Amino acid sequence: MPLIVSFVSQKGGVGKSTLARALAAVGASGRLRVKLADLDIQQQTAVRWGKARQKRAAVSPVEVGAFRTFEDALEDRDAFDLIIVDTPGHTSAATSTVARASHVIVVPTSATIDDLYPTVLLLHALEEIGIPRSRLAVALCRVLDAEEENVARDYVDAAGYELLPGYIPERSTYRNAQNRGQALTETIDGSANESANLLIESLLRKIAAQSAGMRNGTDD
Ligand SMILES: Nc1ncnc2c1ncn2[C@@H]1O[C@H](COP(=O)(O)OP(=O)(O)OP(=O)(O)O)[C@@H](O)[C@H]1O
Ligand SMILES: [Mg+2]
Repeated sequence: MPLIVSFVSQKGGVGKSTLARALAAVGASGRLRVKLADLDIQQQTAVRWGKARQKRAAVSPVEVGAFRTFEDALEDRDAFDLIIVDTPGHTSAATSTVARASHVIVVPTSATIDDLYPTVLLLHALEEIGIPRSRLAVALCRVLDAEEENVARDYVDAAGYELLPGYIPERSTYRNAQNRGQALTETIDGSANESANLLIESLLRKIAAQSAGMRNGTDD
């Protein structure tokens, strides 16, 4: 059975597709069999990125597909070690289905209270449908400075949820890389790559701990 990691949010534009692609690229470069499932049939952000990526020789290939339903995305699940699910920019009944099946659910957010508030509301809602808190992780994306990071860390801590160590700063170099089919860890700027690697490594540690906990029945 593959590990399933989903990216969900109440608000749009917070970095779901961006982080999903970074995790896919890092996983693929680590020789995992990775599938990036884009459930945003309208935007198909991940799919278009996947097409741009196919034209690049120097990156690890990532299998990307768009799927109308989560069940469709899982059809060939046995062929993969890691299935990454990029969901649309609002929650729906499908979000609950995806969340229930995920080993880790990542909620990306910027560091503004405008984004943090709906993030915590969504985390509460996920707990209310029975998702253990240990499967939930907040990831900071589009952060402008260290002060913003501290405010966000305090906010998420006070709400009692896990904020992954590290954060993705707001940089045009990330946008340019994604336009070219590259991931946050594959830009032309070494320090941008390092920031992204730190966050994705935190996420990989969380995924490993969660999968071990779920195997032993100790995750909730
Ligand atoms: N750290 C960053 N620095 C600069 N631009 C960023 C950063 N993270 C994301 N972006 C840009 O912000 C926009 C929104 O990011 P992304 O598409 O990942 O969000 P999303 O949560 O998937 O949005 P949606 O809800 O519409 O699916 C994109 O244009 C992306 O390139
Ligand atoms: Mg998206």
